[in-house]
Amino acid sequence: MQVSRRNFLATTAAAAILPNLSSAQTPTILRARTGMQHIAPEGFPDSAIWGYDGGVPGPLIRVPQGARITRQFVNDLPQGSSVHWHGIRIDNKMDGVVGLTQDAVAPGDTFDYDFTVPDAGTYWYHPHNRTSEQMARGLYGPLIVEEANPPEVDRDDIFLIDDWRLTPDGKIDESFGPSTDWSHAGRIGNWVTVNGRAPTTHPVRQFERLRLRLVNVSNSRIFDLALDGLQGWIVALDGQPLEVPVEADRLTLAPAQRADMILDVTAAEGEEAALVMQDRGAIFFLAQFPVEGQAREARMSAPKALPANPVPALGDLETARRVDLLMEGGAMGGMRGALIDGEMKTAGELMNNNLFWAFNGVAGLPEKPLLTAKRGETIRIKIINDTSFPHAMHLHGFHFRKIEEDGAQGPLRDTILLQRDEVAEIAFVADNPGDWLFHCHMLEHAAGGMLTWLKVV
Ligand code: C2O
Ligand code: CU
Repeated sequence: MQVSRRNFLATTAAAAILPNLSSAQTPTILRARTGMQHIAPEGFPDSAIWGYDGGVPGPLIRVPQGARITRQFVNDLPQGSSVHWHGIRIDNKMDGVVGLTQDAVAPGDTFDYDFTVPDAGTYWYHPHNRTSEQMARGLYGPLIVEEANPPEVDRDDIFLIDDWRLTPDGKIDESFGPSTDWSHAGRIGNWVTVNGRAPTTHPVRQFERLRLRLVNVSNSRIFDLALDGLQGWIVALDGQPLEVPVEADRLTLAPAQRADMILDVTAAEGEEAALVMQDRGAIFFLAQFPVEGQAREARMSAPKALPANPVPALGDLETARRVDLLMEGGAMGGMRGALIDGEMKTAGELMNNNLFWAFNGVAGLPEKPLLTAKRGETIRIKIINDTSFPHAMHLHGFHFRKIEEDGAQGPLRDTILLQRDEVAEIAFVADNPGDWLFHCHMLEHAAGGMLTWLKVV
């Protein structure tokens, strides 16, 4: 049969009204694989890393609010993996938690992720299988969801701040197995990078306005950050806008936490502004901003709050369901024992199973959820840190607010830092059905037993 021009036109028109067809044929691939990258200090050779598309960080995923994201995850690593889209209020099947929402993607296999992003803000992605090893090797990447009307800034920079443990010859220390780190403060490193490279300089102009998206992608380090020659506001935490921007020149970022800052360069021409971290009295530069020239005559006016995301407001806190989460264990914690798979074990037996921590007397992911919520219910969880270490508790699938003793509600977050012996209560609306992990984001603590889950039906 001869294909007439008329037939040909008819065919192309048919293809055009099937918008999913072409995207289904050419999925965008996100490939986890090994690679070589210069992450170590100057003078050291490249290090063997694991990275998405072979690099640290993985590729930037940047989409408008409400967009659909599709990625075919291809696992070219020598061990099973998955992708978790940290902080996204997501369809539960796409949450990427091996052992809870999906099986590990075996080496050579693929998994199709497909979800929409309801909230604008700063997010990130990382594996959720053998996470403490896979993230220590470099698997993570940025996920930015743009506001429909972004605030006016001259530049918008993402800083993924990592803490590596390198050997004296600049390789990634491969002692990932259970160790004293697991029962102490986690894998604390000896070298810090920003976006997978040694801290570097970023020339700026006086009175230039920057948006800095700071992300703590380290395994377990809590970063104490401070700014010099840059003045401004925190406008969002863990992706969610603050109702009122808060002026700040320092902030603490626990593992997995994010902060969006809007900053004006107030250092004079010829001077240098900086973002630094403080560690036991010492100061390290994470970024230096030499001031060259002027962007305008004076500072811009204060930014307005970013538009709120469609997160439901908390219901009545008096009648909300309440549950306690008692965190126990670790070195100097005095835990006598806990349940594993429903059986009581002594602290010594727990250690032989590489478990050092327990939630409500259970070490490791329990068979039964911490609670089963009805869809739409407001839930209050009182977290009691009865250990000698700080912990960064992360709830999958929801953003919560801290409830102060006087009932005041803190900003929306997905990860909360609890100091040793601290008690904090959080509340959220369980509006998304599924099985949701709730764990310490100090990855060695999670590996050592600090995790539980919630069910929403
Ligand atoms: Cu960043 Cu369980 O996740
Ligand atoms: Cu912890």
